[in-house]
Amino acid sequence: MSHDRLNLLREEILRAPAVAMLLDAVPDSVRQDLYLVGGALRDFCLGKKDVPDFDFVTSRNLEDLTRECAEKLSARRVVLDERWGVIRLVCNAQGLLEDRITLDFAAMQGADILEDLSRRDFTCNAMALSLTGEASGASGQGWWDPRGGLDDLRTRTIRAVQASSLREDPLRMLRAFRLGATLGFEIEADTLETICRESEGILQSAGERIHDELFRFLAAPDSHGYLIQMDRCGMLQVLFPEIERMKGLPQGRHHHLDVWGHSLQTARLLESTLRDGLGGFLTRWNASSLAWVEQQPRTRPLLKIAALFHDLGKPATRSLDPAGEVHFYGHDRASAEAAYGILERIRAARIDRERVKNWIRYHMAPVHMTSAYRKGHLTEKAMIRFLRRVGPDALGVLVLSLADVGASGGSGSEQDWKRSYFEVVDSLFSLCVERGATSREPGPLLSGRDLMDALNIDPGPRVGRLLRLLDDARIQGRIRDREGALDLARALHKTLRLR
Ligand code: CTP
Repeated sequence: MSHDRLNLLREEILRAPAVAMLLDAVPDSVRQDLYLVGGALRDFCLGKKDVPDFDFVTSRNLEDLTRECAEKLSARRVVLDERWGVIRLVCNAQGLLEDRITLDFAAMQGADILEDLSRRDFTCNAMALSLTGEASGASGQGWWDPRGGLDDLRTRTIRAVQASSLREDPLRMLRAFRLGATLGFEIEADTLETICRESEGILQSAGERIHDELFRFLAAPDSHGYLIQMDRCGMLQVLFPEIERMKGLPQGRHHHLDVWGHSLQTARLLESTLRDGLGGFLTRWNASSLAWVEQQPRTRPLLKIAALFHDLGKPATRSLDPAGEVHFYGHDRASAEAAYGILERIRAARIDRERVKNWIRYHMAPVHMTSAYRKGHLTEKAMIRFLRRVGPDALGVLVLSLADVGASGGSGSEQDWKRSYFEVVDSLFSLCVERGATSREPGPLLSGRDLMDALNIDPGPRVGRLLRLLDDARIQGRIRDREGALDLARALHKTLRLR
């Protein structure tokens, strides 16, 4: 980067509200021991404007410096890492969540800023800007870039500061993929080779850290190419040894890929649906699907996890019938349990584990419904019952099923069959989106006791039959409240004959 461009960039960064605010809060004598480092600096260099998290390094006493700044900035002060000396200030001038800025202060590692930078992960993260406002630093403009970070930013490259950087903190191997996917950078060949060699080391990292990086990685709209790289270099199998048995496992005539190849392909199709929307006549459900995905920031990564693991149970449930046909009876249930276990291991929240389990558990339902539909047996009532059982997250089952079917070949992909399948999925979307059929009902409108009192009848099969008919009427939207249910119950009571 040219001398002038660096100068302009430095001025722009020093004027950024969070940096300017901090500079106002500290005297000159302190500024000269303060450096902006890490992701914020990298992102400014990439031209990003809305940077919310800043990392600073100082050789000053961290405790005193952050207490003083917290008071002047009316910021909340949180000790993040006592051992490594990292303290966070959370500033929220407008009191709004989206205006929140976090300033992380770390104690300088080593004798000076150069030594500190040499201990960091990747060259693009190993730069520092001195906050003195004076033209100091190696380049003469307050910039410290000892490992060629600016050059690597220009060529969009993730390069380890040194081979030992990855060994010192093995989580950095996962960070390489996460940063690559979120920034759209390529992992440099030597760095990738080191990751391939050292991938076992990732198991030394705490589950919470793996979880955090993995979810950030999968939240990227274009993570698939990096996922394939992770698989090729063995990192996925180290993290999820369960996938070994899926590799090379043939699946019979409905599929052209082995179980693992099919799972990766499902994840690829799911990612492109999340990014580009649904295809064909299902495009009319794009807006509502997107709104559902956006409701919860973890939905994207969770759906990709569900795609990767939706057939985990296949190795354990594979069987051959006398005609030599392959079957995986009950694999949906087995896969759901296994995926739940994996998510538990990587410390996913209970609600996330339940969501993935639910999607996987029911991912075959639209396919089974298609068989019923083609035989003329599928009723709207059955579809609504299914959606109510799955609950408000049913759109996840539909999106997962579409990717799964898209990733299958063989006779199941015949045009005619696919047409029926899309019609079923279209009806399910319509019931979810337009009819709100996924809302789990709090309970029946009337209890058996209510019925017996209102109709003056004794316990018996008539009560059960009436309750089922009332439930059907409610599913079909013919009754909505208790009064309507009582009226219908009285009418049915007069006409109902029990066999
Ligand atoms: N860092 C490191 N090794 C790690 C984690 C962090 O060397 N395992 C260093 C890097 O210099 C990094 C900085 O600490 O830039 C801040 O880390 P973090 O906030 O986790 O990530 P960012 O690089 O800021 O990236 P992002 O903005 O995407 O969070």
